[in-house]
Amino acid sequence: MMLPFRWALIGVHLLMLLGTLTNAILPDNYEGLTSTEKMNILWSNILNDIYPIDQEGNYPPSTVTEQTVGDLLFNATFLKEVFAEGSDELLNGRPKIISPTGVIGQFELIVSPGSPYTGVFSSGSYLALGRLSGDPDGTLTQANPLKPFFAMKFLYNGKKSENLFAGYNTIGQSMLDNSTSFFRHQLSTGYDSTSDGAVNPSQDRLLATLREVVAGLPGGPRDRPQNTGILGLVAMASVKWPSGEKEARTFAPFRIVFTPTAEAKLFRQTDFNYRAQMVREIPANIHLFSVTAQRSPCDVFKPLGELWLRSNLVAGHYEDQILRFQQPFRQWDPSFITPDGIPCDTNECGPVDINVCPPDPSGNYTHNYQMG
Ligand SMILES: *[C@@H]1O[C@H](CO)[C@@H](O)[C@H](O)[C@H]1NC(C)=O
Ligand SMILES: *[C@@H]1O[C@H](CO)[C@@H](O)[C@H](O)[C@H]1NC(C)=O
Ligand SMILES: *[C@@H]1O[C@H](CO)[C@@H](O)[C@H](O)[C@H]1NC(C)=O
Repeated sequence: MMLPFRWALIGVHLLMLLGTLTNAILPDNYEGLTSTEKMNILWSNILNDIYPIDQEGNYPPSTVTEQTVGDLLFNATFLKEVFAEGSDELLNGRPKIISPTGVIGQFELIVSPGSPYTGVFSSGSYLALGRLSGDPDGTLTQANPLKPFFAMKFLYNGKKSENLFAGYNTIGQSMLDNSTSFFRHQLSTGYDSTSDGAVNPSQDRLLATLREVVAGLPGGPRDRPQNTGILGLVAMASVKWPSGEKEARTFAPFRIVFTPTAEAKLFRQTDFNYRAQMVREIPANIHLFSVTAQRSPCDVFKPLGELWLRSNLVAGHYEDQILRFQQPFRQWDPSFITPDGIPCDTNECGPVDINVCPPDPSGNYTHNYQMG
């Protein structure tokens, strides 16, 4: 859950849409609909609310007001709602402060034959919404380098959606190498957080807030992410797509990595308003990422499949400020290692402070999520 916040930081102000916070209302029976019906509703809401393009081909900044985000971002009570089970839309009036600007499209995750995993990580093809987000204010300058982040939303028949989050690292690629391509680096659902902290005071403060949020989540040790850099994939591995039927037994990868393809790497962000450029230049039906998975914290990454963009990318108010991606809270469990897997050895799980190994097995998933 850490990834998005770090971009909002770096001592800058976050841009929020003010005065346009009334959320669209999904139909009362939304949750009970099929995966396809939900996708159609969300996609039509997204398309009905896209940003107009000005003569220079940019999105107008006029509806965006700058405001410091500190009061919200450093408020654990406000932040914990990102874990609450709920709608695919933000609560009425709640601004999106995590990754508030992005582009969205329909993606197909194609998992190769022979996958040992369950749910959307089992062999097959899965349609999902995918959102590529970057700098909070949606602009790209030397002083405002690109910080790629990726989220996917899997929609199920008669069951709430499950979401996946991935990013590069806690700092942002451009502070390291000044690259301007969204597809320069791998994006991972769990990354080395050793660089967390000591970047700047606001980042340290945010991490402290996030740790407070995670520590305060209801339930047992398994009901919260290991740390601020790793978001679990358990929920998506627990049910079949699109039926939402429970898997007899869950085998979740510990983490997966999206590696940009050669085709994706051709794309270079040069425009100030880089999102408009992505919308213009990235075509539908492009293979954007290859996908690899790590079965346990101690295991090597193995090929899992491919991720294709199936629609055009679009940017707009609905996907930026109304559509909600609940942060997953359930963490990986060593019992998810398949019989031929390697048991997790806490001594081989990387730098100690990453703490990727799960807590004691006595910490089962214990609660049905309902948070204020
Ligand atoms: C923190 O957020 C909660 C929930 O949004 C709000 O009620 C409270 O007033 C906030 N606290 C501060 C100090 O802003
Ligand atoms: C990135 O750009 C800054 C400012 O131009 C420069 O000082 C720094 O050396 C660059 N870093 C790399 C790794 O090229
Ligand atoms: C955790 O769940 C497993 C499988 O259901 C069960 O065998 C075990 O007793 C549980 N542990 C605790 C501490 O509840």
